[in-house]
Order: sequence, then structure tokens, then C-alpha cells
Amino acid sequence: MGTERRRGQSAGTIRPIRYMGDPVLRTEADPVKAFDADLKRLVDDMFASMYAADGAGLAANQIGVSLQAFVYDCADDAGRRHVGHVINPVLTVADGELADDDEGCLSLPGLRFATPRHAHAVVDGADMTGTPVRIEGTGYFARCLQHECGHLKGRLYVDTLTGATRKEALRAVRSATWST
Ligand code: NI
Repeated sequence: MGTERRRGQSAGTIRPIRYMGDPVLRTEADPVKAFDADLKRLVDDMFASMYAADGAGLAANQIGVSLQAFVYDCADDAGRRHVGHVINPVLTVADGELADDDEGCLSLPGLRFATPRHAHAVVDGADMTGTPVRIEGTGYFARCLQHECGHLKGRLYVDTLTGATRKEALRAVRSATWST
């Protein structure tokens, strides 16, 4: 997810964001098996990289690490802010009405397109210590959860577009300065 204006503090190192066209974004990420100091560093680096790019969510493969993990900092439909990380996330529920709001992605900088997403989502996974967590989101946060789970399966939000919006998106990608 991209272009939410928000910054936070993070101990991590800012790593370069991978752009659409990079194969790591098209590869299903591997499950995390070791809940160790390296994993904590990865989560810190993901937060640092997300905030540096003004993002609302970031998956590990967006900084070139093909592991099942994402971080987020975004608001739900009641305006409540959610900040956290999930390891080995599984999108267990995506239901409610389909909303067609604008969506962006740090891996397709500068672009936003109306993208259909369910209004409610639940993600099951673990935190960086391996403790099971369940995250429930509505509104923009539900959109973020669906978007980040897609990244870890090697998908991008433009894949979900259809018709004229899809054509417009692919044309914009082809002419983008970051496009390879
Ligand atoms: Ni994204």
C-alpha cells in the first residue's frame, strides 16, 4: 500500500523498494521458520523502509526478502490507527461489500487506481516471537490486509483490475520512469 502521509520512528535500516518488473515481487514468499534476531531485524527494516517511502503497508518481498511477513500502519473505517506486523499471514476471511476505492503500492510509485476489495478481512499468523495472532480489519485497513497478503503470493494490486481500468493501469506502468 502506498502514499498515506505518515511517518514513525523505527530502529531499522531503510532498504530500497523493489518495483514492478522485479521477479521477487512475482515469487510466492517462503514461510518463516526461525523466529530469531534476524527476523526482528527484518521487521525493523520493513518499518523503516515503509515509513521512508510514506507507505501504509509493506511486504518483505518489496525490499527483496522472499519471506512471509508484512508490516502495516493504517486506519480502519472508524478512523482507528493500526500498527503492527504479521509473520506467515493467511487471509482467512475477506467478506462484506466490495468497495472500489483508490489503491496504491510502493512498488508502483506515483500510481493509484480504483481497486475492488472486500470491506472486512481477517488475517491469521504469528508475531515475531512465534505467538499466534489474529488481525481483523475494516475499510482501508481491510484493503491493506488483502493487498499485503497478495504481495506474499507474488501478486500485485493491478492484477485484480479489469476492463478499462486495467488497460489504463498497464499503460501507466509501461510509461513509468521506474518501469524496467
Ligand atoms: Ni503494495
